Amino acid sequence: MEALRNCWQVAAYAGEVGDGILARTFLGEAVILFRDPAGVAHALLDRCAHRCLPLSRGKLAGGLVQCGYHGMRFHPDGTCAGVPGQDTIPARATVAAFPVAERHGFIWIWMGESAAADPASVPDAEWFANPAWETVAGYHYIAADYRLLVDNLLDLSHETFVHQDTIGNGAVADSPVTAQLVDGRVKVHRFMSNCPPPPFYKQTTGFTTNIDRWHTTFYEPPGIVVIENGSMPAGTDIAAAKQRRILNFITPETATSSHYFWGVARQWELGNTALSDGIRADVIKTFDQDKVLLEAQQRVLDSDPSLQAFPVTIKIDAGPILGRRLLESKLAESRLVPAGSA
Ligand code: FES
Ligand SMILES: [Fe+2]
Repeated sequence: MEALRNCWQVAAYAGEVGDGILARTFLGEAVILFRDPAGVAHALLDRCAHRCLPLSRGKLAGGLVQCGYHGMRFHPDGTCAGVPGQDTIPARATVAAFPVAERHGFIWIWMGESAAADPASVPDAEWFANPAWETVAGYHYIAADYRLLVDNLLDLSHETFVHQDTIGNGAVADSPVTAQLVDGRVKVHRFMSNCPPPPFYKQTTGFTTNIDRWHTTFYEPPGIVVIENGSMPAGTDIAAAKQRRILNFITPETATSSHYFWGVARQWELGNTALSDGIRADVIKTFDQDKVLLEAQQRVLDSDPSLQAFPVTIKIDAGPILGRRLLESKLAESRLVPAGSA
């Protein structure tokens, strides 16, 4: 699949990589994630150098990955540590390794040129770790092209029609949206003034009368979408607002499937676990609704390979169109980099 490779993408929550091997596919390549005895995370191609058994069918033994077929052992960097029944190690007995970094509760993976992987450039996910915010986090597997999910997050008018029982009502689709490029990111903004609070807002903010509400969405290709969101009683100052950040890290699994790591950070009632549990349940319900739509959309696209572009464009597509354009320009840039160069 064509994808941006020279960038850090979320591979897993740090807690998902424990004592064993976690197998997961990124950008069409099967990978294993594991930790060495010092707790440092590593990623290798999930394919033994000998006869191609997935290494995920093996085990960790003494800080090495041991293949589950003929027992060849590999160091965390993919070089061979030993071959049963012989003293010599074949020259090509190496498994490809991918750069990995652990930050803000995530394991990040670099699926491109290793030499270009700079740990200092790991994207900022500090809301997941900042004590001034309380974050509810989760994961959805989406059997759809990651770009459909990015489109979805850059066009929140769908809340009106898809999420009426949680975050949507008529005010979202009725309020105008602006989309622009700012500092290399797409910025989409919508302000909804003097509107009734949708059910999720009533339950989580306590605002029961009309509110002023905003969404400001930032997209950084290929798959990082941060939505700054807040609401306050209609006509009051922003100081009265309850603010949230909806954090979306989307990593392609294949051309038609995606890993969706998400978090909802809030700045009020930190430590209120009942509130966190309520938010978690409603967010899962909301993203389940998106999953159903995105997967249905993907099935239609799969059924007609001649469909190159969506047939009709309307005003609310401003964000998704800009997002696709920015992604395409990044892909075009990456095509200019000769294979094998850093
Ligand atoms: S396939 Fe892995 S050791 Fe033979
Ligand atoms: Fe949605």
